[in-house]
Amino acid sequence: MAELTHEDAQFLEQARREFGTARTAEEVESLRVKYLGRRQGLVQARFDSLRSARAEERRRLGASANALKEAVEQELAAAQARVGRGGRSSERPIDATLPGLRPGTGRRHVLVRTLERLVDVAATLGFSVAEGPEVETEEYNFDALNIPSEHPSHDSFDTFYLDVASLDGGSLPEAARPGVRRLLRSHTSPVQVREMRKRTGWRRDWRRADLKDAPPLRVVAPGRVYRPDAVDARHYHTFHQIEGLAVDRDITFLDLKHTLHLFMKGLLGEGVSVRFRPSFFPFTEPSAEMDVSCPFCGESGRCAVCHGSGWIELLGCGMVHPRVLEAGGYDPERVVGFAFGMGIERLAMARHGIDDIRLFCDAERGNLLGFLEQF
Ligand code: DAH
Repeated sequence: MAELTHEDAQFLEQARREFGTARTAEEVESLRVKYLGRRQGLVQARFDSLRSARAEERRRLGASANALKEAVEQELAAAQARVGRGGRSSERPIDATLPGLRPGTGRRHVLVRTLERLVDVAATLGFSVAEGPEVETEEYNFDALNIPSEHPSHDSFDTFYLDVASLDGGSLPEAARPGVRRLLRSHTSPVQVREMRKRTGWRRDWRRADLKDAPPLRVVAPGRVYRPDAVDARHYHTFHQIEGLAVDRDITFLDLKHTLHLFMKGLLGEGVSVRFRPSFFPFTEPSAEMDVSCPFCGESGRCAVCHGSGWIELLGCGMVHPRVLEAGGYDPERVVGFAFGMGIERLAMARHGIDDIRLFCDAERGNLLGFLEQF
């Protein structure tokens, strides 16, 4: 190694001391910048000063500066080895212009986001939000909705019944009544009756003359529902629905169609088309099922989401059955209503092109961060 000038030797001394006392990768790094930085580093400054040296001196000073640089680089390497490089390689100097590592942030589940979107759009149409209990009585889940227990339509809302003896009766407001069978609600439709009764002030001892023609009502009721279905790509025992209900003095089927079309435009975009097919539900008369044009293929066919039909079945709807209005405390001679109910999973699958319902929350197949982070 070439001999250092007195000045360079002193300089090296100082560098050794500083590198020797550095404790962290950050400290070592700032020393690297201080000494070996390409623009402002102290070693570079020594090279720069050569320019003003006398010609005969320049050779000796240059050799000393080179030796100094090498020695300082060794100090740096030793210090880096000692403190650990903090994940950085000395061959690859830090590039401060690279984007940083973003810390992981949480997000709301895709189903929650879909629900929130539904509720937002519903709010723009004048619907407020109602909620009902997931543990229901047969009265609300079936009877008040005109689903007689001996009728076959009962079966299409196949239900988990609860062993009430094992429940804490205190947590269930209506559990005090004997002989009330409890179940996990199989749809959100029971909230229709709960909301109507709340608004009309319905009481068990009411007669016909007590039934009301006011106040008008417009609510959506989102929530979780349960059915003992065999699990596959399209069925799951636990899923979500959103119910809609409007009651007023002069509502027509046209209001229902128009409202649902506006609702779908808000959700799926201005270009969406809807179509209604006659159907049957015990709690509406007449009843219909509504399909939306497939947002992926624009009716062109050859599509995994709509199976090439160009349409996706999305919801059931209809004019509220007079018996249901009555169960809610309204006079069916003086008010009319429309209702609709839709599966949230089905909608989220249609919106995002998801082909397996288990991806949402199944313990084995679903809830994977890699899947959820896409939304
Ligand atoms: N409750 C029905 C179901 O779970 C869906 C439904 C159909 C709701 C028609 C409604 C309606 O409000 O009018 O399949």
